[in-house]
Amino acid sequence: MCEESGQHVPWTVVDNIGALVTNDPELGQGPLGVIRDAAVVLGDGFVQWVGPRARIPEGSAAIRHDLGGRAALPGFVDSHAHLVFAGDRTDEFAARMTGAPYEAGGIRTTIAATRNASDATLDRNTARLVAESLRSGTTTIESKSGYGQSVADELRSLEILERHTTEATLLAAHVTPPEYAGRTDDYVHMVIDEMIPACAPHASWIDVFCERGAFDLDQSRAVLRAGTAAGLVPRVHGNQLGYGPGVQLAVELHAASVDHVTHTTASDVDALAASNTVATLLPGADFSTRGKYPDARALLDAGVTVALAADCNPGTSYTTSIPFCITLAVREMAMSPDEAVWAATAGGAMALRRNDIGRITVGARADLIALDAPSHIHLAYRPGVPLVREIWKEGRLR
Ligand code: NIG
Ligand code: FE
Repeated sequence: MCEESGQHVPWTVVDNIGALVTNDPELGQGPLGVIRDAAVVLGDGFVQWVGPRARIPEGSAAIRHDLGGRAALPGFVDSHAHLVFAGDRTDEFAARMTGAPYEAGGIRTTIAATRNASDATLDRNTARLVAESLRSGTTTIESKSGYGQSVADELRSLEILERHTTEATLLAAHVTPPEYAGRTDDYVHMVIDEMIPACAPHASWIDVFCERGAFDLDQSRAVLRAGTAAGLVPRVHGNQLGYGPGVQLAVELHAASVDHVTHTTASDVDALAASNTVATLLPGADFSTRGKYPDARALLDAGVTVALAADCNPGTSYTTSIPFCITLAVREMAMSPDEAVWAATAGGAMALRRNDIGRITVGARADLIALDAPSHIHLAYRPGVPLVREIWKEGRLR
């Protein structure tokens, strides 16, 4: 049965896949476990069988979908987004493109618009962005709250998110809201005493923006510790706009991920390499702020687990396109196409501590995308071309 519609969905054999990325090196070639001339059987929302098409089990499926030699891979896992907001920041973007710098304070513009919006508007905006991301191949998306910054507005952001994703994050400390101007410590106390207790039941993760102009090391640590005590797992926005303590704090608190990681020292890289914290790189934000890109090579060569995410938000990265981020990662960050595709699938899954997505193996969720191309490498080789042609999410063709 399909969870969402309640209708029975027949099993499907996706056949005649020219090159299938499984992300299981035991199943195929190289680190991506690529199987040539492959097939996958999807049933009851899960991968039931995967292997060379010459060995498809007899009678396993009612529907046969022939890819005609095109490539397929796991649906993208976008582990960093900010989808609940109203308004946009067109003027700020245009000013930046003619030389103005990006500053954390721009977030307050979106806080004002979000607080003024109705629940229905916020829900509609969120649904639109989730649908947009699905169209470009994202089958799992994390999203943060963070444009409310009051108990009531963060709570309703999370309640909206719960309708659209299983991966909701309380971004409790994004920027000090105007009513706490000059009193950031008071805001942090309010977050700890009131916001986290009210919001924790509606989220899986707690996040902070640990950056000059946002929250400092002690404030960030206090918020993340309170979140952990309430049962949430930490993630950190760190080292985006300059060097700072975000990476080290994430490692100290065993955060699932530290995101941006644009300005890093050698000791930041070493700390990450020795930790189980994923470094999530967000090249869409660096692109749209005309910032520098992270040193992905230093991270990868040191053995850090790297994820790629789109960071969809109205300020720094108004894109939901993971293929665009793969293109940037390859062209601007010297990641190989294989590394970028892995980071946007298996890497994203690791950043969300999920082992049921980001791979095509028996028992994994039946989240599979097919390209209008013979190889996953075309995602970087054909920039800007919408190559994602079929999308199965939980076994259902979308
Ligand atoms: O991931 N860095 C903090 N948060 C967002 C930007 C938020 C905004 O400018 O509205 C980010 O880039
Ligand atoms: Fe972000």
